Amino acid sequence: MSRRILVTSALPYTTGPIHLGHLFEHVQTDIWVRFQRMRGNETIYVCADDTHGTGTMLRAEDRGISPEALIEGMRREHARDFEGFLISHDSYYTTHSEENRELSEYMYNRAKDAGRIFTKDVEQLFDPEKNLFLADRFVRGTCPKCGAEDMPGDNCDVCGATYAATDLGNPRSALSGGTPELRSSEHHFFDLPQMADALRAWIDGGAVQQEVANKLAEWLDSGLKAWDISRDAPYFGFLIPGTDDKYFYVWLDAPIGYMASLRKYLESRNDLSFEDFWAPDAESEVHHFIGKDIINFHCLFWPALLETAGFRKPTKVHAHGFITVNSQKMSKSRGTFIEAATYLEHLSPEYLRYYYATKITDGIDDLDISFDDFVQRVNSDLVGKLVNIASRCAGFITKQFDGTLAAELPEPELQAEFAARADAIAALYENSEVSKAVREIMALADKANQYVAQKEPWSAIKDPERREEVHGVCSQGINLFRVLITYIKPVVPKLAADAEAFLNIEPLTWDDSQATLTDHPIKKFKALFARMERKSLDKVVEASMQTEAETADREPGGKKGEESVTDTITIDDFAKVQLRVAKVVAADFVEGADKLLQLTLDVGDHQRNVFSGIRSAYEPQDLVGKLTVVVANLAPRKMRFGVSEGMVLAAGPGGKDIFLISPDSGAEPGMEVT
Ligand code: MSP
Ligand code: ZN
Repeated sequence: MSRRILVTSALPYTTGPIHLGHLFEHVQTDIWVRFQRMRGNETIYVCADDTHGTGTMLRAEDRGISPEALIEGMRREHARDFEGFLISHDSYYTTHSEENRELSEYMYNRAKDAGRIFTKDVEQLFDPEKNLFLADRFVRGTCPKCGAEDMPGDNCDVCGATYAATDLGNPRSALSGGTPELRSSEHHFFDLPQMADALRAWIDGGAVQQEVANKLAEWLDSGLKAWDISRDAPYFGFLIPGTDDKYFYVWLDAPIGYMASLRKYLESRNDLSFEDFWAPDAESEVHHFIGKDIINFHCLFWPALLETAGFRKPTKVHAHGFITVNSQKMSKSRGTFIEAATYLEHLSPEYLRYYYATKITDGIDDLDISFDDFVQRVNSDLVGKLVNIASRCAGFITKQFDGTLAAELPEPELQAEFAARADAIAALYENSEVSKAVREIMALADKANQYVAQKEPWSAIKDPERREEVHGVCSQGINLFRVLITYIKPVVPKLAADAEAFLNIEPLTWDDSQATLTDHPIKKFKALFARMERKSLDKVVEASMQTEAETADREPGGKKGEESVTDTITIDDFAKVQLRVAKVVAADFVEGADKLLQLTLDVGDHQRNVFSGIRSAYEPQDLVGKLTVVVANLAPRKMRFGVSEGMVLAAGPGGKDIFLISPDSGAEPGMEVT
């Protein structure tokens, strides 16, 4: 019997671009979704941008646009990026929607009626200059445990201690730099401890992976705390009913955004209702795919809220680990913080989809992306094994046999052996053990190649008496290829579509693995898949470094120490760097880049255009006439706003404290710095 399934990926924050990390989750989800659809299960895949919070409000202010305009621009970019990676969302909506407002109010009111909402005064740091309460990440100060200075408001980068922002010594507002004061305000809480038994029952029912269940058991055993679901004005979000200055905390309405996105999608369907999915006794399934960092929200707060509001709870939450690149956290300075859009400028989305597929397990361990391994796996598996089967056989069919497959296959047992793996491979997909599924499929591909290699159609064809044999072998090869394409189709849908066109068949469903293709005309074989070039990957990395000046916050001391690797260089390395004195002849703001200034530099014999991330520290007019030092032989960098021809040197932690390096008086534009 076919199933009806609602599937979600976690809603990306509106505040940043889609990157390799988000893509891991969406590729994993999309493979699962496409697999379900091939099985004939009605599967609806929804997502949205997660838009609310103080951050959105401040950014919009910063850019002088409305938060609505800001988030709509980001939503479009995100949706476009996902499309580029062939992610088959049925709806990519926003949490800032009327559907979501209504549902959030409804759930809150139901929770209130059920006696699960209470209010309590909370003391928090308040920035009197900016006139707002400061979220932890907007406070910096001295670690109460080890005394390290300038630490964030939630945990210490040096000793790792976790604390409340109010425990910091000498606290400062990261927004205004001023000293915050302690103020009290009323907050709304969801009484999570009341729900402990219901949560235990849900977890015991098999809704989460074993590792996740263990983690949740720890949390439950050490006692749940009430959940603060309100934030004070000013905030970009939904007002709490019955108040005029309290907003729902972004994490309250974010998961409700899954429902809102579905509701929006259902406008286009008159055969399905919201209740079909969310009524307490709904027969449909609900599956959430998330990263391990947000397990508490999806496996404690969310089911508790659903239960309280009289909705069904998720069938399953599928959690995954974090990706690292070349064994390190993604890093802007190393060029491994790779954005979806940058990747797509140089590489096919299916390379990454396939490589990710070889990493997907049902566990929550982190997974490493190694560049060497990436290129090697894609080329050896997809090109060298899978596509190779078709390319070895197709030419003979086209040239020697009028493009038509033989009426009978010579190796029915081999064919049956391939078909017989369908259930096992399906079970692996179903359980998110995609890496194992891929391994099975590639083992079969090896077998198919061995078969063709052993029969040597290329020599046999020279013997006119063996023509029928060659026809059979090549038709057999094509049939084995067809089964493998069926199995791998959720991972590489475009390759599969191209293969379907070549095979001259309707889109493959899972059951097609059981059938054969005989006495059937196929199309002329065109290369189905290009080799992945290491050079192109290097270009992605290079381009990812280049956008750093545009996007990176020049935060004091770098980001959580991840960028502070300093390798020594030789004098010869240093000699490669050509430094020259330059004079700023013009300086301007850059539209659409709030961290950059555009500088026109006189470097003696000519002028250069340079983009520099120093806007937070300098007014353009104050720079004109100044002398500075430029890296003159830096390869020109194409940026979104134009080409940057060099880099000026500056010192300092960032923000207002960036200091352009200037030579002593007497220096002239064009002089070499040695
Ligand atoms: N907005 C919240 C989710 C709300 S869901 C109701 C959020 N957004 S996020 O943009 O920070 O992350 C979105 C998803 O991407 C999360 O599931 C997160 O775990 C995942 N990833 C972000 N970086 C990642 C890696 N480096 N590796 C794998 N997944 C990661 O959290
Ligand atoms: Zn510390």
